[in-house]
Amino acid sequence: MPDRPYTLLSCGMSIDGYLGAATPRRLQLSNDADFDRVDAVRASCDAILVGAATVRNDNPRLLVRSKSRREERAARGLPASPRKVTVTERVQLDPTADFFTTGEMEKLVYCASSRVVAARLRFQSVATVVDGGQPVEMRRVTEDLGDRGVQRLMVEGGGKVHTQFLIDDLADELQLVVAPFFVGDSRAPRFVGDGRFPWNFRRRATLGEVRQIGDVVLLRYALSSRFQTD
Ligand SMILES: NC(=O)c1ccc[n+]([C@@H]2O[C@H](COP(=O)([O-])OP(=O)(O)OC[C@H]3O[C@@H](n4cnc5c(N)ncnc54)[C@H](OP(=O)(O)O)[C@@H]3O)[C@@H](O)[C@H]2O)c1
Repeated sequence: MPDRPYTLLSCGMSIDGYLGAATPRRLQLSNDADFDRVDAVRASCDAILVGAATVRNDNPRLLVRSKSRREERAARGLPASPRKVTVTERVQLDPTADFFTTGEMEKLVYCASSRVVAARLRFQSVATVVDGGQPVEMRRVTEDLGDRGVQRLMVEGGGKVHTQFLIDDLADELQLVVAPFFVGDSRAPRFVGDGRFPWNFRRRATLGEVRQIGDVVLLRYALSSRFQTD
């Protein structure tokens, strides 16, 4: 079986399980101390993956913010921030989005086989386009990332992406941060959609750690035997 990277899902959600607001406005769920913790996790990874909707809605930079962490990576011969990865079916992403234009590292776009030619035209100077299959399967994506030297992958959402990694049993760890408020609007994106998850009332996930960080709580779930304690 091909090697796939150690895969860590990272997510912040409201008490009622939403990833953000129903409006395009970006909703801050976490606090500064937790953002710094997430920055440290980013710095420990070889690649960060987000879904195309997150690139479109949030325009994230996905860079390591701390100067000392960037320098530490450089001293280890690594790019200052991990490689950036996204998946898309429709290939309707703006090549001038911060995902593509910030940071010197490689950016990878996995798309359906039928969209590879269109994607290469659109992203020719800003990203490496990879045929992800028809349809794109996350297992294939992670195995390909493993072939490209990614040993530790951080998946930062959104919900459609998290759902596939969980249902396909590709996650070794889930880092779930719960913010102390409700969104209360079912039009907002949820942490996960419907599906047959490997963890259910018959097979309970293992809680690896609970940590209070100011007004939020971090829950770390061990989802495979590869789970790494700090
Ligand atoms: N709170 C948090 O920690 C957090 C983190 C990240 C994001 N978010 C929020 O989550 C929201 C987005 O979540 P979301 O669930 O709507 O979307 P998402 O998971 O970010 O992205 C979904 C999109 O990714 C592409 N995609 C996913 N799986 C695919 C597959 N197997 N094959 C091909 N393409 C695939 C498709 O793009 P195309 O439409 O281009 O085909 C799909 O529409 C954002 O509004 C953001 O604010 C919150």
